[in-house]
Amino acid sequence: MALIAPSILSADFTILGEEIKKAEQAGADWIHVDVMDGRFVPNITIGQEVVRSIRKVTSLPFDVHLMIVEPERYIKEFAEAGSDYITVHYEASVHLHRTVQSIKEEGAKAGVSINPATPVMVLDEIIAELDLVLIMSVNPGFGGQRFIEEALRKIGQLKRIRNERKLDFLIEVDGGIKVDNAQRVINAGADVLVMGSGFFNSPDYSEVVRRIRDG
Ligand code: DX5
Ligand code: ZN
Repeated sequence: MALIAPSILSADFTILGEEIKKAEQAGADWIHVDVMDGRFVPNITIGQEVVRSIRKVTSLPFDVHLMIVEPERYIKEFAEAGSDYITVHYEASVHLHRTVQSIKEEGAKAGVSINPATPVMVLDEIIAELDLVLIMSVNPGFGGQRFIEEALRKIGQLKRIRNERKLDFLIEVDGGIKVDNAQRVINAGADVLVMGSGFFNSPDYSEVVRRIRDG
């Protein structure tokens, strides 16, 4: 069964703690935290201090998605603030192998994300080290964008690589996932669905979870 990771980017920030508790009560599996720096992506969002404070309101795993340049500079801060998974972008870290090792040394699970224009094959030399691969199904930077269909093919490719090489990383997909297309993403092989607007803009979070689980 695929895990559901609501992205708090689309939550109501005036009551962020309540939103997270409601997501947990609705049956969400992880909390996805989008960290943007205004450089790797145009938008600026959340820093490690926010992660530290929301850590107190839930026991769900924090899935921290760093959309920042030179992510290696902030691994320690985000790990200490309570991140369970830390995902960096392939496009943003020159010494990616070292960055992945340092995520693990800080005691977090390591993920690498690729943008829509980046092919899966660039991960060939690092994939065996990863706990998670995050396929972007929108160009990172904003919630509420339309799902890019080519992502489905990449999920399939990753699944094949995982089988052939007997690896065990999770396949996560992020961007434009709604109740209506979730099943196609799951059928393609996704293990974790990130949902921002499709989750938090819905009037009933439990209903979103239920409809996805029921297929
Ligand atoms: C986009 C972020 C996503 C975003 C998804 O750059 O990485 O996690 O919050 O939002 P939706 O589900 O609305 O596309
Ligand atoms: Zn994200």
